[in-house]
Amino acid sequence: MPVIALIGGQWGDEGKGKIVDMLAEQSQLTVRFSGGDNAGHTVINPSGEFRLHLVPSGIFHPGVSCIIGNGVVVNPEVLLKEMEQLQAAGVKTDRLYVSERAHIIMPYHLLFDALEEERLGVRALGTTRRGIGPAFADKVARQGIRACDLLDKQAFRNRLSSVLESKNAILTRVYGVTPLSEEAIYSQYVGYGERMAHLVRDTEQIIHDEIRKGSLILLEGAQGSLLDVDFGTYPYVTSSSPLAGNGCLGAGIGPRHIKAVIGVFKAYSTRVGSGPMPTELKDEIGQNIRERAQEFGATTGRPRRCGWFDGIASRFAARLNGFTGAALTRLDILDTFPVVKICVGYRFNGQTLTSFPSNGRVLEECQPVYEELEGWQAPTSHITEFARLPLRARRYIRRLEELISCPVAIISVGPRREQTIKVRRLI
Ligand code: IMP
Repeated sequence: MPVIALIGGQWGDEGKGKIVDMLAEQSQLTVRFSGGDNAGHTVINPSGEFRLHLVPSGIFHPGVSCIIGNGVVVNPEVLLKEMEQLQAAGVKTDRLYVSERAHIIMPYHLLFDALEEERLGVRALGTTRRGIGPAFADKVARQGIRACDLLDKQAFRNRLSSVLESKNAILTRVYGVTPLSEEAIYSQYVGYGERMAHLVRDTEQIIHDEIRKGSLILLEGAQGSLLDVDFGTYPYVTSSSPLAGNGCLGAGIGPRHIKAVIGVFKAYSTRVGSGPMPTELKDEIGQNIRERAQEFGATTGRPRRCGWFDGIASRFAARLNGFTGAALTRLDILDTFPVVKICVGYRFNGQTLTSFPSNGRVLEECQPVYEELEGWQAPTSHITEFARLPLRARRYIRRLEELISCPVAIISVGPRREQTIKVRRLI
């Protein structure tokens, strides 16, 4: 069996958690490979309702091992708390592992994230303030502290001492705030290291052993393609790559092992945080979608910006990832609309653009060109077969398939596992 990557096709919050939770049943391993606890994967299953920030969504299946890969930045406090919450709900976490190479979010990362957002004022990126950007910046600046460092007290002390000297200089001289205490951070993080020691492993080896055995492995994407640090709406992006290509780098496997790349798309668009979103609806339709779908951030609780499906942005995402199939979520949210719209072009300076612009200022000014389809105005959340969906809903899905150039393999019509239509095999 192969590796399957599940990737957000929009701006995150596409419902990847539900899809991974559902597919994990047949898998042996679920791997997070990017982002950090900025993610909020909502999973509703017989064990309860959960919002996972770091733990992969495969955790609910007793036979499935879960890996937080080298490409993830880990806040130990958040991880340990999340594990405690899962255990309190009766979910076992004894098959959860963290890569020795994963970078650790330190107190100064949280502080820098907040200070920078405050400095930017109205131009703020609207980050989750989880320290994600500063932690990834330190990784590439070779100033990071990794999970393996926490387990080696002497090495950790030396590294912290050197890194904190530079961080405290910036905190005091640039931001004019009180410096952080090395002693306090050292003892707090040595404590985390002791509590995490049993989790920290050579996870690349675990993944390779499973590949050799022919196991089904799920790469669980976090955030969405349009938040990618290279291809997203820069600078309004996250600081790692949510794309399938990074599934290899963030887990430590070669591209040839990935046999299917599934793009997860909502039947409409949402975005949380700042940055351009051409199909955003600031009217009562957007409000209606937000209320029907309870579109509030799983990590920050912020109201999500809602709009029609953006065929231009989604096709761009499909190309970047090479999607072999798609999972379409929250179709039921559109059940009541008399008309549903799909953006098939952007009007800019009297021209119609059919590709996704790299320039954020251009994107901000783009006006969506819509195709209007008749709404199906019938409930779908009880339907489990594609053929039983209203004809107009099927037409809508077929049009989306044309735009993203790949078949829809899974349709989700409600939060529960059984509210799912399996249209075709993933591989
Ligand atoms: P950061 O990842 O916290 O640095 O935030 C950068 C941008 O990515 C902000 O607009 C966030 O709202 C957005 N973002 C980060 N993680 C997620 C996510 O899991 N879902 C949706 N948006 C996210």
